[in-house]
Amino acid sequence: MKIGIISGSHRPGSQSRKVAEFMADRMRKMSPVTKSWILDLSEANFPMWDEGVWSGEDKWKKVWGPVAQELSSCEGFVVISPEWSGMVTPALKNFFLLASSKEIGHKPGLITTVSSGVGGAYPNCELRISSYKNTRICYLPEHLVIRNVEKLLNVAHDTDITPDDQYIRGRIDHGIHLLVEYAKALKSVRESGRIDYKAYPNGM
Ligand SMILES: Cc1cc2nc3c(=O)[nH]c(=O)nc-3n(C[C@H](O)[C@H](O)[C@H](O)COP(=O)(O)O)c2cc1C
Repeated sequence: MKIGIISGSHRPGSQSRKVAEFMADRMRKMSPVTKSWILDLSEANFPMWDEGVWSGEDKWKKVWGPVAQELSSCEGFVVISPEWSGMVTPALKNFFLLASSKEIGHKPGLITTVSSGVGGAYPNCELRISSYKNTRICYLPEHLVIRNVEKLLNVAHDTDITPDDQYIRGRIDHGIHLLVEYAKALKSVRESGRIDYKAYPNGM
């Protein structure tokens, strides 16, 4: 099973990327069947959405085509967003305009928010309120809020770390285990023949 990890910060060397790599490493260790693929939006540097996305312009085929293939081959996603001025990043909002139900629809998403302070609640709510509508990504009821991120997840080993670090590592493992179970379960929904994107391309 392949899991895509979207690192939503467009700051090079971000804490979101650190969390993405930590989670990818955790997935490698806990289950040999889980492959991961990181999409770092600071590296991808996608242009802002324009009409050419819908009309299938060559520019967009080149930019988005390879990403669409990767996304399509994933069975679930971790969606990481830092809290920026109480919001999800512009790059992540743009990602949800570019991505469609063909690639991520009816696949589970584990929301993971990141803050250098005690934030992280707002981007969680923002993702849950709108980003799923047309993409049909299915967010788990479980999510991760990684506060004081600079003090956490800095070493690979699980010994000689603070209780807060220990706690969040356990919570991350729990989230990934659940994501994998939801991915197994939602496969049958996608294969049920009940999803009608032709009649209902967008959510209500
Ligand atoms: C433009 C900007 C706005 C920010 N606003 C908030 C905020 O509203 N709440 C918060 O907890 N942290 C805020 N932060 C700090 C981030 O939590 C911090 O940069 C953290 O490392 C996560 O971002 P990163 O993944 O880009 O590193 C902000 C950071 C930036 C760059």
